[in-house]
Amino acid sequence: MRSRIAAGFAWLWRYALAALILRYSKKRTLRRDREIPASPRAETWTAALLFGAALAGLAFVAIYAFDDANTQLLGLSIAVALALAAAALILAASLVVPQETLEEPRPPFADPDDVDGPKTGLSDGFSAHQQEGVEEAALTLREGVDGVTRRRLLKAAGGAAGIGIGAAALAPLASLGPAVGDRLGASPWKDGVRLVEENGVPVKAADLEVGSFLTAFAQGADKEQLATSLAVVRVKPEELELPEDRVDWAPEGILAFSKICTHAQCAISLFRYPLFAERSPGPALVCPCHYSTFNVLDGGERIFGPAVRALPQLPLRIEDGFLVAAGPFSGAVGASWGRVKEEE
Ligand code: FES
Repeated sequence: MRSRIAAGFAWLWRYALAALILRYSKKRTLRRDREIPASPRAETWTAALLFGAALAGLAFVAIYAFDDANTQLLGLSIAVALALAAAALILAASLVVPQETLEEPRPPFADPDDVDGPKTGLSDGFSAHQQEGVEEAALTLREGVDGVTRRRLLKAAGGAAGIGIGAAALAPLASLGPAVGDRLGASPWKDGVRLVEENGVPVKAADLEVGSFLTAFAQGADKEQLATSLAVVRVKPEELELPEDRVDWAPEGILAFSKICTHAQCAISLFRYPLFAERSPGPALVCPCHYSTFNVLDGGERIFGPAVRALPQLPLRIEDGFLVAAGPFSGAVGASWGRVKEEE
């Protein structure tokens, strides 16, 4: 008797639950009315915005290639490209792509007593309902483009925007290090290249006093090139502790180092020269970014800060009173990326 009552309650519970689900579930109706009519004008605007995004993306690449120091223009061009692409997508979603209200069909309830599940008559494992869903999805996809009248134009504009923005995204890969493009490895310094000041005037050895600091460049070289700039300093010759193979690299106590910090490539702009040697640390070049400090007396070894490599030193000689390179740098210029590390 008890089991009959329990079975009766179970039956009642199942059918009450089914009634609830039926009451609150969406109906199996499907409406396919296009709520927004085709708008050639919106399509033209979408295409125009996408072409604009493509142009802005290509502008980023051009600025990067020919004027990569102009970060404001780089930022502006990529921001415009992304904003135009976003505007095109919003416009397309609102006025170009057909808007539909779909009500998802629900499967019929299975018979709780049917342990084999619903009979579909299909052999590929899809139920009739699933098969119906696949067909509905295919229909939706087809109808999604049926209302678009300028499909070719939109495809071309979308492709152009993809190429432009994609190129802008990939262009900075060229900055990953000397292994890409070899731009960072190039150096104008070799035996006989004259040191000049920023205005192109050759550097006279006699003009440099002990304790002085001068920024110099390779004569005739592009000043934007990473390895061109030098930090030239003068110390007393008797202070020098250069390695044996560099003893003739500093005529009259004049030393030249790459001006590019080996930590993160800031320009080294500070020279510490002690006025009271007994109580002060020795002469050193200091990078103002994170205070990497390089001892000039022993050839640029790092004595403090986050840099892990010595500053590359340039051998000098004096010709007719003017400073001239006596060879290339002692090491690779720049931060410790790629080949710079390999060379150590
Ligand atoms: S860039 Fe010179 S210390 Fe960081």
